[in-house]
Amino acid sequence: MDMKATASNIHPLDPLSSEELARASTIFREASKVSDQAYFACAIPAEPPKAVVLEFEPDMSFDRAVRLVGHDPKERRSFEAIVSLTDGLLTSFNWAVAGQAPVGVGDVKPLFDILYKNPDWIEALKQRGIEDPSKIHVDTWVTPFQPKGMSPQGRIFCGIAFVHEDSADNHYARPVEGLLAYVDTDTGEVVVEDHGVVAVPNEPAEYAADLVAHHRTDLKPLEITQPEGPSFEVDGNLIRWQKWQFRFSVQALEGLVLYDIRYDDGGGLRPILYRASLSDMVVPYGDPSPMHGWKHALDASETLLGHLANSLSLGCDCLGAIRYFDATVLNPDGSTRTIENAVCLHEEDYGILWKHTNVLNPNLKPEVRRSRRLVISMIHTVGNYDYGFYWYFYQDGSIQFEAKLTGVVSAGSASEGTDTAPLVAPQIAAPVHQHLFCMRLDFNVDGGPNSVQEVEVEPLPDGADNPYGSGFKAVTRTLKTEEQAKRNIDPARSRSWKVINPDSKNRVGKPVGYKLLPQASPTLLASENSTHGKRGAFARHNLWVTPYSPDELDCGAGVLSYRHPGGAGLPAFTRANRPIENADVVVWHTFGVTHVPRPEDWPVMPVEYAGFMLMPTGFFDQNPAIDVPPSNSCESK
Ligand code: CU
Repeated sequence: MDMKATASNIHPLDPLSSEELARASTIFREASKVSDQAYFACAIPAEPPKAVVLEFEPDMSFDRAVRLVGHDPKERRSFEAIVSLTDGLLTSFNWAVAGQAPVGVGDVKPLFDILYKNPDWIEALKQRGIEDPSKIHVDTWVTPFQPKGMSPQGRIFCGIAFVHEDSADNHYARPVEGLLAYVDTDTGEVVVEDHGVVAVPNEPAEYAADLVAHHRTDLKPLEITQPEGPSFEVDGNLIRWQKWQFRFSVQALEGLVLYDIRYDDGGGLRPILYRASLSDMVVPYGDPSPMHGWKHALDASETLLGHLANSLSLGCDCLGAIRYFDATVLNPDGSTRTIENAVCLHEEDYGILWKHTNVLNPNLKPEVRRSRRLVISMIHTVGNYDYGFYWYFYQDGSIQFEAKLTGVVSAGSASEGTDTAPLVAPQIAAPVHQHLFCMRLDFNVDGGPNSVQEVEVEPLPDGADNPYGSGFKAVTRTLKTEEQAKRNIDPARSRSWKVINPDSKNRVGKPVGYKLLPQASPTLLASENSTHGKRGAFARHNLWVTPYSPDELDCGAGVLSYRHPGGAGLPAFTRANRPIENADVVVWHTFGVTHVPRPEDWPVMPVEYAGFMLMPTGFFDQNPAIDVPPSNSCESK
């Protein structure tokens, strides 16, 4: 069957369809040398070159290709392959040299099958008074370390046990302390580590509506109505709203990916970003105890963030006139699964956009405009944690990215809390940890080439030029090399980074630009030489800048980050210290939170927010939202 991708309804950046995924897996199975035990972890579109995408017209042909990643237990190796859907061929196949395929549903069931039959583990549970293993929920943890006595080649996971009373309860409420079970799912080998018996907490910690004793009763209905429908237009995966235009897709590792973000300021659609996504994240734990010290999950690349997308529901996750989009992912056996309502698109009222009251003329009513923002979002559940990722587009040309962190903190049992694992409830100690998100922002401000500048504010020296001693100035410095561009935040100096197009000037003669305004985000606290430090090295700096390379899409070890020793990604990309001035620049921004758990985070954590803003800085010639009309519902006084 010829599937030359010339159909006018397919764009080079469209997500892979269920048919394309199934066809890729069939082509792979027929051509590859993997054993019959091999299974897929994920499929990722092999994106066409930028030039093909940017010059694409509906009737042009282009190559449609899929990257397939999986694991072969018989070979005890993971693999990475590229299948051309256009030619119907397996075009490349490689066994992984370092690292393994991401962890997915293909791994979890074998782990359970092995562990629940293991006599050492069952005996360790008995020593804790747990006679019935069916009362145990096992949390599967990614395991970067090499457990004693296990093969370094192993497909190794760590099972952490929790007691549950019934299937509907909070199964993180009763952690079984001191017991770690390492399972090699390739060989069936199990190593049980017992660090000593600690009493299992017996208090329930319920959050489900029917298990919470009392609900407050004073909430009146709050309804969002849009009688004429939303103001956005959707054409396949292309979205237009209030002068904004972009494409999106859902990918296995990164989740939501936005492409070719543009704003029409009357002179045409001006490019701002070619591609923007969460490249990876790391969640390192700071409690050095044997139960927690080794934990540092790369929750995007290791555990397939895109596959862990929630099916969102109206009135619960999202309020208003919502447009949902499904996502399709590859199953271990080559079949596909559709996650319904994985992506939510809607508009929100966001307070005031701008206002001024002319106090000199009391006859004039205040001029005020409501701010409206477009939100495109997904929520992912990664074991105990739930992460919502929200892109906001504003009428003033700003773009915001926000991570919402919620779910259940990873906890253990202890009679007393410590500075590294404070008590959040009696007998429940939750280790301190970080959530660090690495964004990949491939800028294309006015079509490029672009440069990145650091802007910060410093006081003027005392002297005749500064007679009040109050002067300060904005200092702008162009970051010329990858080494110079490894930067951290400095809120006291209002440090920000600006991506400019030196060849495109605004009406005051300055290069147009977009500013990355960071929040007060931490960097990685683990030491540089630790496994955490090597594998999560991207989080050592809030900013990195690289010249674009099609081979550098991941800030860490990419699709083979599982059990990878580290050193891949940004530290490797930037080793040659390449020039980044006047180039096709990719900005990498790590932000996040250091989480010192509180009693209020138990039994389920209220949302904590982290993110950053991208603000036009001389990109427009004036406030681009001056043309937003007054709201119809604005009452004149
Ligand atoms: Cu946390």
